[in-house]
Amino acid sequence: MNDDPLALYQRRALPEEFRIILAQYPRADWAAHPNFNGLAAFWLDRHLNFRAMMAQMQQDTALRLDEQIAAPDYGGRLARLGQRFLGELEGHHAIEDTAYFPQLARLEPRIARGFDILDADHHALHDLIDRFAAGANDVLRAPSDRAQREKLANFGTVLAQFDQMLGQHLSDEEDLVVPVVLKHRVD
Ligand SMILES: [Fe+2]
Ligand SMILES: [Fe+2]
Repeated sequence: MNDDPLALYQRRALPEEFRIILAQYPRADWAAHPNFNGLAAFWLDRHLNFRAMMAQMQQDTALRLDEQIAAPDYGGRLARLGQRFLGELEGHHAIEDTAYFPQLARLEPRIARGFDILDADHHALHDLIDRFAAGANDVLRAPSDRAQREKLANFGTVLAQFDQMLGQHLSDEEDLVVPVVLKHRVD
């Protein structure tokens, strides 16, 4: 953690200086834009997928803590979904960092520093990925029903923090990326 007000763990919105293109392409108009069906729609759909997987894992965890799902069922679901979530998220970050962010920053140098912020977010999220993997492994290796529920308290805290930080990152990224993609018809 650091004192940077733009660091993901304490940021609550993108600063105005990075919202200048968004001001010309407000979110409410995105879907009707002629350039929407392509990269912009695909990008938003990937983000919806991450939000949905996170919501499912949180719901499963709440049900398990409430003893409405048996330990083996919960373990199977977490193993499958957790692995998919981490694999897809890491792949998504890699292509953003190496291909899309540099390309979009070149197209709109005025907001180029915003893409550096998003890149830094990915590093913060990767710390959470490590904690997620360790917490999930503790849950999956718990030797008894009771032990699993104890480990779940810790994993639930990691999930809640991940949900908050990922949600902030995804929505800030959409505000930065989608207007540039629409304006320049990036595909
Ligand atoms: Fe991202
Ligand atoms: Fe993304």
